[in-house]
Amino acid sequence: MKDLFDRIIQNKGPLGKWADQAEGYFVFPKLEGPISNRMQFKGKEVITWSVNDYLGLANHPEVREVDAAAAAEYGSAYPMGARMMSGHTELHEQLENELAEFVNKEAAYLLNFGYQGILSTIDTLVSKNDVIVYDVDAHACIIDGVRLHMGKRFTYKHNDIESLEKNLIRATKVAAQTDGGILVISEGVFGMRGEQGRLKEIAALKSKYNFRFLVDDAHGFGTLGKNGAGAGFEQGIQDDIDVYFATFAKSMASTGAFIAADREIINFLKYNMRSQMFAKSLQMVLVKGALKRLDMLRNRPEIKAKLWENVNALQTGLKDRGFDIGSTQSCVTPVYLKGSIPEAMVLVRDLRENFGIFCSIVVYPVIPKGLILLRLIPTASHNLEDVAITLDAFSSIRERLEQGVYQRQSETIQAV
Ligand SMILES: Cc1ncc(COP(=O)(O)O)c(C=O)c1O
Repeated sequence: MKDLFDRIIQNKGPLGKWADQAEGYFVFPKLEGPISNRMQFKGKEVITWSVNDYLGLANHPEVREVDAAAAAEYGSAYPMGARMMSGHTELHEQLENELAEFVNKEAAYLLNFGYQGILSTIDTLVSKNDVIVYDVDAHACIIDGVRLHMGKRFTYKHNDIESLEKNLIRATKVAAQTDGGILVISEGVFGMRGEQGRLKEIAALKSKYNFRFLVDDAHGFGTLGKNGAGAGFEQGIQDDIDVYFATFAKSMASTGAFIAADREIINFLKYNMRSQMFAKSLQMVLVKGALKRLDMLRNRPEIKAKLWENVNALQTGLKDRGFDIGSTQSCVTPVYLKGSIPEAMVLVRDLRENFGIFCSIVVYPVIPKGLILLRLIPTASHNLEDVAITLDAFSSIRERLEQGVYQRQSETIQAV
């Protein structure tokens, strides 16, 4: 018999095996200073393209003031206990009402974290007789939610409506046998590659198949649609989304999340969702902060306009220079280059040390072997000078990559 830890010690996992070379630099880097377009990395200023603070609210003076006042008034503990027991307040309810109105649903419910919240939402919405059909590229939190499901589940090819329809036919047969229903899950925006989910086409299938539609709009909320009310508005089908989810961790520059749906569904979730029933309520600091941020989303359209000015400048500039930015339809800006993981490591080091550009790097197994994905997140706190410097830097590193400079420098790097 083995010791439980033997496997863990011997096999560090697909990312963990690079830890010796990567930790503190490529993964778990320490970005310091106020959250903004320029931050400090290892004592040097870098243009920061790796923070999902889309609207630049993280360090907005009005937001900071509200956060500080709420912390002074309530501390970080209040309220204590789960919502159901002792953690319910007037302001939690007010925030839920305002969020519901903003996304045009009857009711909303707060979640402490997006990840566990959506996982638990999925768990609560389906019984073992129901069938889940979801995009194969769904975020880990959706996959984990589906893992809890005791019944059948089918994946459809990423954003492929034909594949979805095939799976809806299979799901319909199963659901007829088990006397269950069908839940279809997509993201509003796929956060790695930036494509919007094909929500409009998915919604159109409702006329042929009987299913309910859950959308995780983590990256669409605040960035797409009327005043940033999300991908459903952007595509004109918000009413066809039965359960709408967004996190506060991106455009809202905070922590927490919410779901919005018909009142009856939200009431059911309130009384049955385990992640909220058995966990402490969202802290008041975060609730008051979210009320302020939501107010900014609704009443400061110039912030979103500034975000999109930067997005357009960056994406157009990259395309004009011949970079492959895939098929993004959102602020998420991927740049695909060909190269190995060791080459990617040297390239990113060059970008950070010599060009002062800090962006995230994504490699296999998140994307196919042989590809390097540099992922840039433009925000409203960037400016056109940041964009221009970055475009020049990208042209330079591509040249070095193609000349084999990084390949030569990376020969000594190996996984352990
Ligand atoms: C698509 C998507 N859903 C959910 C989450 C999780 O949200 P949170 O950070 O609030 O847990 C994320 C990432 O943060 C995400 O990208």
